[in-house]
Amino acid sequence: MLRLDKFERYPLTFGPTPIEFLPRMTEALGGKVEIYAKRDDCNSGLAFGGNKLRKLEYIVPDAIASNADTLVSIGGVQSNHTRMVAATAAKIGMKCVVVQESWVPHEDAVYDRVGNILLTRLMGADSRIVEDGFDIGIRKSWEDAIQSVEDAGGKPYGIPAGASVHKYGGLGYVGFAEEVRAQEAQMGIKFDYIIVCVVTGSTQGGMIVGFAADGRGDKVIGIDASGTPAQTRAQVREIVDNTAELVELGRKVRDDEIVILEDYAYPAYGVPSAETSDAIRFAARTEAMITDPVYEGKSMQGMIDLVKKGYFPDGAKVLYAHLGGAPALNGYSYTYRNG
Ligand SMILES: Cc1ncc(COP(=O)(O)O)c(C=O)c1O
Repeated sequence: MLRLDKFERYPLTFGPTPIEFLPRMTEALGGKVEIYAKRDDCNSGLAFGGNKLRKLEYIVPDAIASNADTLVSIGGVQSNHTRMVAATAAKIGMKCVVVQESWVPHEDAVYDRVGNILLTRLMGADSRIVEDGFDIGIRKSWEDAIQSVEDAGGKPYGIPAGASVHKYGGLGYVGFAEEVRAQEAQMGIKFDYIIVCVVTGSTQGGMIVGFAADGRGDKVIGIDASGTPAQTRAQVREIVDNTAELVELGRKVRDDEIVILEDYAYPAYGVPSAETSDAIRFAARTEAMITDPVYEGKSMQGMIDLVKKGYFPDGAKVLYAHLGGAPALNGYSYTYRNG
């Protein structure tokens, strides 16, 4: 039994997210592997929701206990994470400062005005665009933003990129694994593989710990979308170790239980390949399931390729974790101008 219950959780989501069978996608991919999706993209009424809210549910109690008045976080210009931090701040009545780094070379004239950043601004966050490029680590621009809140007499609470290297960043997705186990019992089935996009690491890291409890950590297949997989892997390793200790897994997770496939992030973080765009169209046209060019489009691309390559044995049940991210599509209006 994992000890998730000893951590306080501030509800930001509707509750357990639905798992749905995807019959048209299953059939279009040959029918030998059953494809299901767990819809964390539909998990909340807060500004379109997404994976960050599961993580933030375990971070908010600590922020409130610290007597902070301002959440300070960081991401790219089209960051889903900063949108979710802005939403959380609005919901709990705190102020919000978010640093938006220039992570993605973009061609859209409105890239820095629509989608995630538009919503972030609408919710009242102080959104600060800086020139720094992509990096999932701790950043000086974020530390400077924390300092700026202090200098102005405020009480900042720092949340790192993706809420990942926060001490409680991995707990939310331990909860995801517990939830899947309960749903499996209700549905009378068991998933053989879980597909998840990985960048800053705490989504997959939490899942690995959660599923390691019944020996399935290595069935969580991370599809790297960072393009800097060595750094992502190191961050997942760190989060897994910290989270396993917090929830008292009772053993060290082995390196071979951390599975990250590096073949789909090309050409770069935030830039879709032709195959990514094909995967986005495929999900949209078979199941009306909307994925984005930065994250879920790449994990969709990975899953499709793995099915085609015979990575999963016949009869396998594959659960695609849909983590959200659709608002970023607005920043790619030129790329998808013809669908
Ligand atoms: C929609 C979406 N999918 C996947 C990810 C990757 O999750 P993580 O950063 O926890 O690895 C993110 C955030 O980075 C995201 O916003």
